Amino acid sequence: MADIQKLLAQMTLEEKIGQLMQYNGNVFMDTSAEITGPMQQFGLTEADLGRMGSVLNFASADEMKAMQDLHLSKDPHKIPMLFMMDVIHGYRTIFPIPLGLGCSFDPALAKECSQMAAREAGASGVQVTFTPMVDYCRDPRWGRVMETCGEDPMLAGHLGAAQVEGFQGEDLKEYDHLAACVKHYAGYGGVEAGRDYNLVERSERELREYFLPAYKACIDAGAALLMPSFNSMNGIPSVANPWLMKKILKDEWNYQGVVISDYNALGELLVHGVAENEKQAAQLAFQNGCHIEMCSSAYLHHLKELVEEGTFSEAQIDEAVTRVLELKDRLGLFDDPYHGADQQKAEALFLCPEHRELVRRAAEESAVLLKNNGLLPLSEDLNRVALIGPFAQEQGINGFWSCCGRDEDTVTMAQGIRKLLPEAEITVARGCGCQWDDRDTSGFEAAVQAAKNAQAVILCLGEPQTYSGEGNCRADIRLPGMQLELAKAVIDANPNTAVVLFHGRPLDISGLDEIAPAILSLWFPGTEGGNAAANLLFGRANPCGKLDMTFPRSIGQCPIYYNHPNTGRPHWTNEAKQQHFASDYIDCPTLPLYSFGHGLSYSHFVYSDLQVSSPVLTAETCIQVSVTVKNDSPRPGKEVVQLYMRDPVASVVRPVQQLIGYQKLAFAPGEEKHVTFPVTEEMLRFWNFEGQHTSEPGTIQLMVGYADHFLLSQHIEYRA
Ligand code: GLC
Repeated sequence: MADIQKLLAQMTLEEKIGQLMQYNGNVFMDTSAEITGPMQQFGLTEADLGRMGSVLNFASADEMKAMQDLHLSKDPHKIPMLFMMDVIHGYRTIFPIPLGLGCSFDPALAKECSQMAAREAGASGVQVTFTPMVDYCRDPRWGRVMETCGEDPMLAGHLGAAQVEGFQGEDLKEYDHLAACVKHYAGYGGVEAGRDYNLVERSERELREYFLPAYKACIDAGAALLMPSFNSMNGIPSVANPWLMKKILKDEWNYQGVVISDYNALGELLVHGVAENEKQAAQLAFQNGCHIEMCSSAYLHHLKELVEEGTFSEAQIDEAVTRVLELKDRLGLFDDPYHGADQQKAEALFLCPEHRELVRRAAEESAVLLKNNGLLPLSEDLNRVALIGPFAQEQGINGFWSCCGRDEDTVTMAQGIRKLLPEAEITVARGCGCQWDDRDTSGFEAAVQAAKNAQAVILCLGEPQTYSGEGNCRADIRLPGMQLELAKAVIDANPNTAVVLFHGRPLDISGLDEIAPAILSLWFPGTEGGNAAANLLFGRANPCGKLDMTFPRSIGQCPIYYNHPNTGRPHWTNEAKQQHFASDYIDCPTLPLYSFGHGLSYSHFVYSDLQVSSPVLTAETCIQVSVTVKNDSPRPGKEVVQLYMRDPVASVVRPVQQLIGYQKLAFAPGEEKHVTFPVTEEMLRFWNFEGQHTSEPGTIQLMVGYADHFLLSQHIEYRA
């Protein structure tokens, strides 16, 4: 345990400010005699290396140790640096992208995956991960939608909190635990036009109702750090936004962790046009509570001057530095600056059977069976199977933000199918039929021939992993290239064609959906993708994923999301259709192609007997809502039983459906379960026009099924 106040008393103002600096690890690898490259880029001196508070990105435990040793040799106070990385969905053994893992509706699984990632990353020298990302998003054009946990605030909060718990555990001093940084606070997923880094203009009520809850859930779970977002929020970039950083984060939430800027976000205050110069950027960020400046030099160049001229007191600097030093102390770095980093231990963990088994299971649980006319599951007795499409033997299935994951580590579709059917003739069509994004159809003939010669076809389509992630937004979210044309040719040649989709966002697959007998969404499944796909396609695993984000029919519908208000002319009431003048389109249905919560199984689940323990709810009572679910099939399977509510009359418009509970349950063949959900007044609360989080008396509708497709409903009355 370090005596932080004693340490502070021994430090100069420059040394304290050094604790608030973070640069890329390569500034320590700049061994040239004169300062060039990265150090020059940031205006760093040798002395700065001895004052550096933390480092971003480095290759291994050995490299981290070398940097820490070099730094400590220059730091008179021997204050260890923090080492941080983006361990988003795995370190070297990669699990599905977060938007895919969210479809598991399984926070416990998300926690287990984060624990696995923490083991590999911790051994590799990582002490802080910039995870979880819980930006609320309704727009599949945005490339970073792949990092989110979907369009429901409650589910996103559960998944984000589970990641915090998985990474941090109970004690950060334990080597298998990392500090978690919740990001990007706030509203980054609401960028206008789905274009990265674009402005966000949202009402306070909508922010509080939809965009903020997941960050708060992660803070309540103990997230040790928080990262403000690049975007301007209602006119001011987040890192300098007093409403976000002071009114909410400081005054309402009393956040006590470390706030770290995003990469050069302080420098971008000049580009946004809210800071005249670097000094003003430093002032704006610091006065709004940003502690660490990532990869820019406003604090390095101007914070001392701002103290000397009286803009800030040294006590204010001390408060920020104390948070950083306390985090280092919680991690035990003053006793072990390496936090247990061990190259050999790390390499023994990478891709080990236990980790591979976990990420394969995660990929199976994240997959969503969107459509199935009965073609799936395929029989293991097949002996002639054709694999066609750009993902037939593609290794690039980890997805964006896959940290140190390597494409060559992944199990491809062809490898997975061949492993499951070792005796069968598995033909990969020459050229796979077409590539992702070209107009070349010269491979179609071979593909059609392969399809004709096969008993069944597995058509592996999608968007490349570089088409989503940071800075990779799409204005057209259909299948790139000639893939739909290939699908038409192949399905014409052999109707026993199952489509497997690889994607980082909900795609517009309307054309494909019209012709494909079966469609299995794998998202980007990670290291074990091919094995997971094979198990799902041939029934060794039973699909149980449910969409955590709406699949639109067309980009023209976007943003489209399940928890929308009714409007004064709802599109789906018959009356509206007769009136014609309804909130809909003349050239496209208004409902999505696949709704939130949708996902098929090889089992058949029958819902009946939705009951409430009392027709009246008060602020002091709790109603038990029960429903009977039966697996009316000979196949064991899992079902995510979803409970929704609707508050049809309130002082503000309320969504036509809102998820308020879910339970993922395993059923044996023929098994019947009575599933019960507690409903309390707190679950009815919403943000009203006056900015209060409140509930109001009235009728509440309760529904089971999934968005837009309810099977049963009941009414209760809430009496305040
Ligand atoms: C990136 C991302 C952020 C990430 C950071 C460090 O630009 O916006 O999510 O954690 O920089 O890599």
